[in-house]
Order: sequence, then C-alpha cells, then structure tokens
Amino acid sequence: MTTARSTPNIAFIKYWGNRNDGLRLPMAPSLSMTLDRPTVEITVEEADAFAVRSFLVDGSEKTLKEKDTDRFRKVLSLMQRYIATLNAAAGIRESQLQENVSITVRSHIPPAIGLASSAAVFSCLAKAIAGFIQDKKKLTNTQASVLARLGSGSAARSIFGGFSTLEEGNGMELGSSWSVQIADEHHWLLHDIVIIPAMEEKKVGSTEGHALASTSPFYVERVRSIRTHRQRECIEAIRNKDFEALQCVTEEDCLDMHHVMETSTPPLHYLNDETRRIVNAIKELRTKQHIPVLFTMDAGPTVHLVCPEEGKNAVLSFAHAQKGCTIFETKVGPGAILLA
Ligand code: DP6
Repeated sequence: MTTARSTPNIAFIKYWGNRNDGLRLPMAPSLSMTLDRPTVEITVEEADAFAVRSFLVDGSEKTLKEKDTDRFRKVLSLMQRYIATLNAAAGIRESQLQENVSITVRSHIPPAIGLASSAAVFSCLAKAIAGFIQDKKKLTNTQASVLARLGSGSAARSIFGGFSTLEEGNGMELGSSWSVQIADEHHWLLHDIVIIPAMEEKKVGSTEGHALASTSPFYVERVRSIRTHRQRECIEAIRNKDFEALQCVTEEDCLDMHHVMETSTPPLHYLNDETRRIVNAIKELRTKQHIPVLFTMDAGPTVHLVCPEEGKNAVLSFAHAQKGCTIFETKVGPGAILLA
C-alpha cells in the first residue's frame, strides 16, 4: 500500500490542444507554477478487484460517476502499458494495475473552485503508482511525469515543485512528452490569490476543449508563438526572477488561449462579465499603485492573481473587496510527494 500527496498548478504558458488526444501528447510546450495547496491524497493498494473511492474535505464519500471511474480505469491501463515499455514488466503482472488495485482519493479541493483538480489527482495517482511498483522498478520523476500526463496533461507539471514545463517532445509514443523542472519552490516566492466569481461547475471540461483547439483560425499562430518565443521568454523570466517579463508573457498567453477558445467551433466561453470586471480593476490598481501582480485564467471564470511577497497584502485586500466572490490563498509549492 502506498500513499502520495499532490497539488494543482497554475499555468503561465497554457497547455491547450494535443497532437494526440488519447495519449495527451501536447501540440506545444507549456509551463506552470506548482501550488502548495489545496492537497489531494491517494492510496493505492492491492485488491481482489479494481475499485475507486473518493472522499471529500468533510470525510463524506463522493459518489463517482461512471465516466470518472472509467477515466481511472483507462489511465491505469495506459500507465501499465508505459511501465511495460520501461522494461519494468518483470514482476508486475500484465493486468495488475487495471484489475487488482484499489484507489482511495481524499481531496481537499473545493469543487468548482477553478483550481485544476485533475492536475492534482493524476499527479498524485502517478506518484502513488510509482511508489506502489518501486520494489520492482524505481521510476525517475521524469517517468512519473509521463504517468501523470497520461491521466491529465497539466498533471505532468505537478510532479515537480516550483516551476516546470510540459515538453512538447517528439513522436507518438506513450513516453513522447514529459515534464522538466525549471526551478524548485525555493527559487522564487510567488503567491497565487485566487478569486472565484461563481462556484458553478464548468460546462465543457478541458478534455473536450482540447479537441476543439485546432478548429480556431488562430490556433496555428498560437502554437507557433509558443514554440518560437513565448515558452523561452517565460523560462528566462523565471530564471531571472523578472516579474515584469513574467507578467507580460503570462497575460499575453492567457488572453491568446481564450481568444482561441472563443473562436473555435463550437466556441468555448469560459470567462464571464465578473472575470472581465476583476481583470480591468486589477489593471487599474496596478497602474495607479505600481503593485507587482499578474492575472491569468484557465478553463473557467476564476481569476488567479500571482504576485511576489511585496505585492501580497495589496492583492489580498483587493481580492477580499470583490463582492460575492470566494477567495483562496495559495503559493508556490513542493510538488507530488510519497507519504508512505
Ligand atoms: C486551461 O490538463 O485539464 O488549465 O489532459 O484533458 O485533463 P486534460 O486537460 P487539462 O488541461 C489544462 C488546460 C488549462 C491550461 C493549463 O493548465 O495548462
């Protein structure tokens, strides 16, 4: 039996669109900061039959939909196939991960908060599976990031703490894309003050969304920009702790992703009027008071305000002044860890 703990991440260069949807092989690289909370814990243990159980913050059991259980089953089968390619099959029976494990998920992530729970869940599952098989085969974190990616593309990045990429990679193999750490969590203390305008579940999930990316006439240019300069600019900004450069490239990439989403067929509108109001208000505050802060939004109306220590108090008071919104405080964190 092994237990792992992991957390979500917030992307500065967004992952949107795959060259292979089934294997979650991205079209372009992406980059994020791993957060220190909220946490997810997953226990993997041997069992007579495959089972997944999920428990909420208050300890009550969440009834899983069939499609959620199916996703776990499919992911475990892909993970098993990838592990077999590492010559690690010795001692791990063909069907073991699909048929003879029970998975218990304990999530501290409030539902519909706009923090990617799939990133936390699948990085946690990957780390727990790596722990489960470690007597037979010790996986590197890079290999664990491949396992995580098979569950959710962005999850690969949460294997590492601090700042990490999901590399585009080459080819169409299970292991053709992985995560690379740019700097660990001690490199740069950045906070993420999360403003959640509406606590409603999003209508179109990321998985369905990725499949629509290439229908936008702006998608080719998006991929080109990330490959040719945006990803590099973001890496340099992080290495040099250049907040202004990070702000420019992150906001440009976020708005570009939402432009692609809104011009795809059918269009995906994740931002709402509240999101736009909050973004305009933070821009105004930044100009007036010279506060170092950047905004970014994933596939939902939630606004992430990322700032260094010196901006934290001003950003927090701004966040708490937003009527009807839920505020969640988090910062750069250590990534997925094995507990036992
Ligand atoms: C907008 O990793 O959630 O948050 O692989 O289908 O689970 P799946 O997609 P997911 O996509 C993340 C989309 C994003 C941007 C990002 O986090 O990079």
